[in-house]
Amino acid sequence: VKIALVDLGLQHKKLKKDILRSVEKVIARGDFILGEDVKLFEQEFAKFCGSDYCVGVSSGTAALFLALSALGIKDGDEVIVPAFTYIATALAVSYTGARPVFVDVDEKTYNLNPSLLEKAITPKTKAVIPVHLYGQPACMPQIMRIAGKYNLKVIEDTAQAHGANMLMPDGKKHLCGSIGDIGCFSFYPSKNLGALGDGGAITTNSKQIYDKLNMLRDYGRASKYEHVMVGYNSRLDTLQAGILRYKLRKLQEWNNWRIKAAGWYNKLLSGIDGITTPFAQENSRHVYHVYAVQSHSRDKLSKYLSEKGIGVIVHYPIPVHLQKAYEGLGYKKGDFPVSEKLSERVLSLPLYPYITQSQVKKVVGTIKEVI
Ligand SMILES: Cc1ncc(COP(=O)(O)O)c(C=O)c1O
Repeated sequence: VKIALVDLGLQHKKLKKDILRSVEKVIARGDFILGEDVKLFEQEFAKFCGSDYCVGVSSGTAALFLALSALGIKDGDEVIVPAFTYIATALAVSYTGARPVFVDVDEKTYNLNPSLLEKAITPKTKAVIPVHLYGQPACMPQIMRIAGKYNLKVIEDTAQAHGANMLMPDGKKHLCGSIGDIGCFSFYPSKNLGALGDGGAITTNSKQIYDKLNMLRDYGRASKYEHVMVGYNSRLDTLQAGILRYKLRKLQEWNNWRIKAAGWYNKLLSGIDGITTPFAQENSRHVYHVYAVQSHSRDKLSKYLSEKGIGVIVHYPIPVHLQKAYEGLGYKKGDFPVSEKLSERVLSLPLYPYITQSQVKKVVGTIKEVI
């Protein structure tokens, strides 16, 4: 039996006609760059997220970089990011010339630990980037409170959490990406909302930031050949936007499927010695971009499952502060014990929309064989 870590074929089979029709329409119109579908997708995605504005960009990494640039983050500034995330969160900070300052994550949520945040703030700190890792909302009430106290901008890295939400102090549930100053999304194909290639989006409630982002992603253009800032070529393709419009209509259904499948895993894995199932906070919606368990014998478990044809992967085996790319920042092993421990213990199991209960049972059965 082969069970893939992610099977995108299932969702694409169901949407194939829509996708092809959308591509044909774009070809017929010829509006490949910043065409009609980009505008419409931006409106629809902003509405979905509960944000006033959305700007489609070329990737999640570009979204983070442009967001930081729009806020004026530059050389000499510091930006706080969790040590346990995909490296792109930190890379985007580095592209601006600013320094990523790492903070350890919470043992349970795997997200930026708000109780360690204040200690990392210096007079140079301009922003913090909480990451909603694996689809679990970061602890936004505390992060927003601390950011407010120190006048820091908050950029949410929502690359893994399209449709996740969290109860905020106003008593309402807010979608991830609509809580901070700016939300950044990736549409990398395997994301909860994925394009057929690279893509990303930025959400904000600020008209000023929106206007600036529109220019930054498009050569700093104010009009066709009038450039008012040093901008970039970082636009979302019309072809991808058209496809994303169809996929967005399915996102709730797909997220619900992920949540349902996570429930199957939780139940079947409960009580197995040596396996820790993911924690989901109350008052928030975890959308399970990734279903990761913890195991002390992770590598052995991973090897066994792989040999049995079960797709598993480690998100992420090296915490960002220990990556060679960042050796110049002077961090060392032991600086962020929770991130380091997680990188040794987590293992992501197969999870995607339309995975079946019997596939989940098969994965768990195979885990039981080795445990
Ligand atoms: C947490 C996180 N941030 C940023 C990114 C970067 O997104 P992209 O691959 O679209 O550049 C990703 C995914 O790749 C991610 O998982």
